[in-house]
Amino acid sequence: MEKLVAPSVLAADFGNLQRDVEMVNNSKADWFHIDIMDGVFVPNISFGMPVLKAIGQHANKTLDVHLMIVEPDKYIQTFADLGTDILTVHYEACTHLHRTVQAIKAAGMKAGVALNPHTPIAVLEDIIGDLDLVCIMSVNPGFGGQSFIENTYKKVSQLKHLIEFSNANTLIEIDGGVTDKNANKLIEVGADVLVAGSFVFKSENPTETIENLKALIN
Ligand code: DX5
Ligand code: ZN
Repeated sequence: MEKLVAPSVLAADFGNLQRDVEMVNNSKADWFHIDIMDGVFVPNISFGMPVLKAIGQHANKTLDVHLMIVEPDKYIQTFADLGTDILTVHYEACTHLHRTVQAIKAAGMKAGVALNPHTPIAVLEDIIGDLDLVCIMSVNPGFGGQSFIENTYKKVSQLKHLIEFSNANTLIEIDGGVTDKNANKLIEVGADVLVAGSFVFKSENPTETIENLKALIN
């Protein structure tokens, strides 16, 4: 399968948001990765519905929305209405994860679950068959621009085994500190989708950075 690149809008220039969204539209990127933070689940607040709506009005690629919020169930329908294609919730934020995942699918979206760096892959054993995507956090969620946690490789390979063993059809996404230095190794151990924020948007030529990253992993 083709490996995917998902630039994280969190690292975009919000004063020129339409310009940056169009840059992604016209690049080799596959998805828009959109980080929603509530200041409770994570110690930071990013942006909410009005900004997602504005992004959606210009974006012409898959909207991959990563919720770093408590009680995500409250907003599932709203995210569907805003054009979300893939809605990812945190394992650590969902007491009734199975119910949440079913609700995401019932609202017409693909369902993803994100795991914090300290959360073992084994907690997904009994739900993996229901998941379209697992997002392995390779930094502690809340901020862009942090360094990649090396233990991630081990987790990706464990998750890959779990998916194969369960005959599941689940994509493995890596989020946090992704660069051209760790991309290849992540793909080798089983990653399908690489999220990249700072590496793309803080580079001199984001379009070229996306193209190079895409070429590197395919
Ligand atoms: C972190 C977010 C990431 C972040 C990645 O909480 O979930 O998506 O934007 O940014 P970089 O690639 O800069 O680590
Ligand atoms: Zn994210």
